[in-house]
Amino acid sequence: MAESEATQESGDADADIPSERTQGAGTDTPTEAPQRAEANAPPEQEQPTGVSILFVGDLVGSIGRHTLLECLPILRERYAPTFVVVNGENVAGGLGITPKVAAELFRNDVDAITLGNHAYHRREIYTYLETEQRIVRPFNYLQSQPGRGLCVVEKDGVRLGVVNLSGNLFLKAGSSAFTAIETAMDRLEGTVDHILVDMHAEATSEKVALGWLLDGRVSAVVGTHTHVPTADARVLPKGTAYITDVGMTGPRGGVIGVKREQAVESLVTQMPVRFETSKEDPWLMGVLIRCSRALRADSIEQILMPRPPAPLAGAGAARARPS
Ligand code: FE2
Repeated sequence: MAESEATQESGDADADIPSERTQGAGTDTPTEAPQRAEANAPPEQEQPTGVSILFVGDLVGSIGRHTLLECLPILRERYAPTFVVVNGENVAGGLGITPKVAAELFRNDVDAITLGNHAYHRREIYTYLETEQRIVRPFNYLQSQPGRGLCVVEKDGVRLGVVNLSGNLFLKAGSSAFTAIETAMDRLEGTVDHILVDMHAEATSEKVALGWLLDGRVSAVVGTHTHVPTADARVLPKGTAYITDVGMTGPRGGVIGVKREQAVESLVTQMPVRFETSKEDPWLMGVLIRCSRALRADSIEQILMPRPPAPLAGAGAARARPS
């Protein structure tokens, strides 16, 4: 999420709310066919069984976290993903992440967490970023900044490299994402079966360009940060799954996570406004990437899913549900 003057939960402006049923999957059935690799993708090493990666876009606040945790069992049953990777840079109160929240995600079998420009919003995460291998901040940050920019997670004998990058337009990063990624690729060479790159960037141009740069070299390039899903999910000609922005997992009833009346007031009055995370209309936004060859994707399917309805009250069925 972009920088803001938020004090409690997330906040920046300029959102565009997508139609509920026009992009990707709704509650049960995808409305858009998965994008398939073109036939001229180069032959690569066949893998004995299919590998799939569920990547979930920016979790916003506790509402985003609960939406993920309630949607995950449904998505696991539906897709049986090999790996689950989430962007968690807004998950703690809308800004940053804490060790407690990260640990909760890992306990729920999230395999890796990526971050972005709010990686360091919570000081208590600094040590955790050094000790927990499965959480990554942008690789193109300074080496002196806490944490690492890539990790390798293994499941069922399959090794997935996860790289986090920050865009350079409108965001602060120590070096160019486009040169840093070559260093990351060198480090991963020969050590992984698949690579997923989360390009956390404001500018669509940087994300599109990174997709083309890495086409045929990594399994997937997914964009995050704007909180608005784009309609360009596809497999590029040489076999890399790509989407400019996955979107957010959080309240669509706000302005990219912020209560809409506060965001609108801020824009109308041009004065400081205290931002809080909206609780309205939470959805999970993600993509499922399927692969049958090393470092290549067969398809990328956009997933747009509302938080499941709360159980009906009465007859002992009622239970407290966190907001
Ligand atoms: Fe961000």
